[in-house]
Amino acid sequence: MVLPCRVVSCRASTQLAANHRLVSAGGPRSPVMGKAEGTGENWHGHVTAITVGPEFRRIGLATSMMSWLERVSEHVYNGYFVDLFVRQSNAVAVGMYKQLGYSVYRQVIGYYSGEEDAYGTCACCCRSAAHNHCCRAAAATFMLIGIMMIGTDMRKALPRDVNKKSIIPLPAPVYPEDVD
Ligand SMILES: CC(C)(COP(=O)(O)OP(=O)(O)OC[C@H]1O[C@@H](n2cnc3c(N)ncnc32)[C@H](O)[C@@H]1OP(=O)(O)O)[C@@H](O)C(=O)NCCC(=O)NCCS
Repeated sequence: MVLPCRVVSCRASTQLAANHRLVSAGGPRSPVMGKAEGTGENWHGHVTAITVGPEFRRIGLATSMMSWLERVSEHVYNGYFVDLFVRQSNAVAVGMYKQLGYSVYRQVIGYYSGEEDAYGTCACCCRSAAHNHCCRAAAATFMLIGIMMIGTDMRKALPRDVNKKSIIPLPAPVYPEDVD
């Protein structure tokens, strides 16, 4: 546990200095990547990817990396919240994020392609506006037969969002073209 944690703090400062609004930390087997994005009250830190090598799991590394990314989002970028997308089917990650204080902001139907597509959904990138029509149709079809390809957008408000407006959940699912 000691080695990866030292790598986090060391590489974090290097990457921060090198990449405006883009941050990463962790070793090759346990990285986290993120960025700052949005405008106005939508200015926030975004977790692009986080993974921990199987041999390092369950010793608090993801918790440490998420904590680091939240501190960067707050103290370096002064964001209103931190958000991330996770497959609805990824119960371990969803459970971890909830434990870290994240809540579901919205469900995005057709956000993911990839593994779920191996069962036969459209093979395009569902985040591409050019393929929205295809994805919307595929999402409807595969929801009908019970194969979900839903992205769960989870958020955690930062102190700048005094009234926690950013985490008020949307009442209904949205589609990729609705995600800014
Ligand atoms: C999800 C993942 C990043 C967690 O990394 P980790 O370093 O093992 O997580 P932590 O040790 O910080 O665990 C934090 C909490 O998450 C939950 N958790 C983590 N792994 C779990 C598991 N296998 N089963 C149940 N709960 C789990 C626990 O509540 C845990 O707290 P606890 O150990 O005090 O009970 C890791 O399993 C992983 O890389 N998975 C594959 C990639 C992935 O799914 N990334 C997220 C995509 S959005």
